[in-house]
Amino acid sequence: MMKSGLNQFLSLLLLLIPALLRAQTAVIPVETKDHVLLLQEDQQERIRTTYFGSAFTNQSDYQSVASQFHYDDANDGIYNAAYTPSGTWSLTEPAIEVKHADGNSSLELKYQSHTQQKQNDASTETRIVLKDPNYNFQVTLVYKAWAEENVIEQWTEIQHKENGAVMLEKYASADLYFTGDNFYLTSYHGRWAKEMQGKEEKLENGRKIIDSKLGTRAMLLQSPNFILSFDQPASENEGKVILGQLAWSGNFKLDFEVDTYDNLKFLAGINPYNSAYALPANQVFKTPSLIYAISNHGTGEASRGLHRWARKYRVLDGQGERLTLLNNWEATYFDFDEDKITGLFKDAKELGVDMFLLDDGWFANKYPRNSDRSGLGDWQENVKKLPSGIGHLVKEATKEGIKFGIWIEPEMVNPKSELYEQHLDWVIRQPDRPEVYYRNQLVLDLSNPEVQDFVFGVVDKLFTENPQLAFIKWDCNAVIYNAYSVYLAEQEMPQSQLYVDYVKGLYAVLERVRTKYPKVPIMLCSGGGGRGDYEALKYFTEFWPSDDTDPLERIFMQWDYSYFFPSIVTCNHVTDWGKQPIKFRVDVASMGKLGFDIVFSHLSEDEKVFCKQAVKNYDRFKEIIWHGDQYRLVNPHENDFSAVMYVNESKEKAVFFGYFISQRQRLITDKEPIKFNGLNPEKLYTIKEINLFPGKRSPLDSEKVYSGDFLMKAGYNPMINAGRTSVVLEIEERK
Ligand code: DGJ
Repeated sequence: MMKSGLNQFLSLLLLLIPALLRAQTAVIPVETKDHVLLLQEDQQERIRTTYFGSAFTNQSDYQSVASQFHYDDANDGIYNAAYTPSGTWSLTEPAIEVKHADGNSSLELKYQSHTQQKQNDASTETRIVLKDPNYNFQVTLVYKAWAEENVIEQWTEIQHKENGAVMLEKYASADLYFTGDNFYLTSYHGRWAKEMQGKEEKLENGRKIIDSKLGTRAMLLQSPNFILSFDQPASENEGKVILGQLAWSGNFKLDFEVDTYDNLKFLAGINPYNSAYALPANQVFKTPSLIYAISNHGTGEASRGLHRWARKYRVLDGQGERLTLLNNWEATYFDFDEDKITGLFKDAKELGVDMFLLDDGWFANKYPRNSDRSGLGDWQENVKKLPSGIGHLVKEATKEGIKFGIWIEPEMVNPKSELYEQHLDWVIRQPDRPEVYYRNQLVLDLSNPEVQDFVFGVVDKLFTENPQLAFIKWDCNAVIYNAYSVYLAEQEMPQSQLYVDYVKGLYAVLERVRTKYPKVPIMLCSGGGGRGDYEALKYFTEFWPSDDTDPLERIFMQWDYSYFFPSIVTCNHVTDWGKQPIKFRVDVASMGKLGFDIVFSHLSEDEKVFCKQAVKNYDRFKEIIWHGDQYRLVNPHENDFSAVMYVNESKEKAVFFGYFISQRQRLITDKEPIKFNGLNPEKLYTIKEINLFPGKRSPLDSEKVYSGDFLMKAGYNPMINAGRTSVVLEIEERK
């Protein structure tokens, strides 16, 4: 009797063990205001992603999610590991591949512990420690979640205490898993002057890879930005979407795989291509961050969350001011001297912008920088062009009442330069192969601390000698061919570290620059939109989206960049590209950080009057563009018109930009209103057309009062048509 009682008790206990164990397994919700990424420990002590969607009302419900999934074939647990190791139980695409110090290449990662802590920047940081039971090898998964903005940043930290270096062969930043039936991916592709061309596709079973191997310019050909839409193609105001980016200025890889359950496994990180990294014991290898904004109400809301996050927590001085400017690049190219430049100061003053920006061509003497074939690397003023030096120009600009900024490209070198002659060992090139050039130049080896000192020195010298220097445009035109580092060879470090150490070296220099010069605005330029990620933007105030400044093209490009970047960081210049009238050009450039790159004195009197007034108008509404919320109203990819508006936080003021972009002019009219967005339905507004060309009168009634409700439901007809191809409206609450 007693025995059978004991047996019964033991059988019951056996039955209960899994349940007891499950109750003890870790349940880790990474929550924002509206969403949750749910991570759960399974019976094998592995962490899996079990849910990604709307946050639950009751925290205790999270625990029950895993039991609702019955992946009961031999693939159980393979796909949704939160960080898939390789060489052991999983045969899917791994997040991490290593070769241990003893040469073994198997890895298991078991849950050890986790913490969740509120940070000073209004985020909550979750850290999950995973360990290999057989090796002293550890991975920490880190998630920072900003509740209010619905933004998550995640990365991993890898470390070990093995007997010698561990070779990291692959080390993703994120390994995410989404359940569902249909996934739509928008990825971005391009080339010089044609950056950020978006394409949406439905993901089918198998893998889709977006990557870069250019070394220095992450987003020239393919972009680390993407939109993932669930169940339906991405739309502006409805549906579940993620807007994401791998924040890394070098080679990246985004890997989307619809698996055998029709779910989506997504890996993002540094491109493993030729990038095995030798990690010594007791050092931490931190991967770059995957950053994403989530919304259940379409790309508009997700973008606004991402923009707010970027301004508040990421971009250097994201909540500060920016300088409007006149740039001389397209006005002079390399052909200028002191008089020409000081003459342009007067134009800048008359135009009413804050600053003059001196572009490429001001330096090098032995091999003067009179074209892009020589001089890069020799950062001394060219005595023929600028006999009195930069200091003189800064003084003259100050006298004129404007600020002065300057262009540099400190990571690069022309073979025809003194720097190349003196420091061949600083140049990335294969010693025994012909050199391969991109824009006649090569890249300096930033893995070498001496080169880091040199690059820092270029910036430091300019600021030390010219304390009033107000701005730098930091260019980067070449890619890395013939990846080989003399420095790494001398240090007996693997050549495969070069791509990663280059970018780390760049960030080390930028860190030094910002320690000494914390706030001075610096534009990140890369011969167009080659660089503009959220790691670099910790150090830069703005970036140059493309050399293509044709405003018709820009309407599309600015639209596409705006999914990921707030307008305060995108520099738009009025140039002579394209065939549009000056009004159209200025209006389009005003939807961001406004600049000019034209010969102002060549404009007609009316054009000059228009530009001066438009700069004044911009100065009045720029606060809304820089710090307000952006609403994309009419998509140029789908319509004959395009419209965007910006609304300030209190919803008292807004600016609207609308364009006629049809080629079939006669067939298109302005018969329908455009629905506004972001206003307060209860407020009353007046609408005034601004940026009118001299002599033109607006057909719109600026006295009439409309409710926000009306403007957002019925809409407003700005009368955009073939005769009025660009319209700017100032919308103000009538108090
Ligand atoms: C490429 C940039 O995109 C241009 O604006 C200009 O600065 C040139 N480089 C100068 O070489």
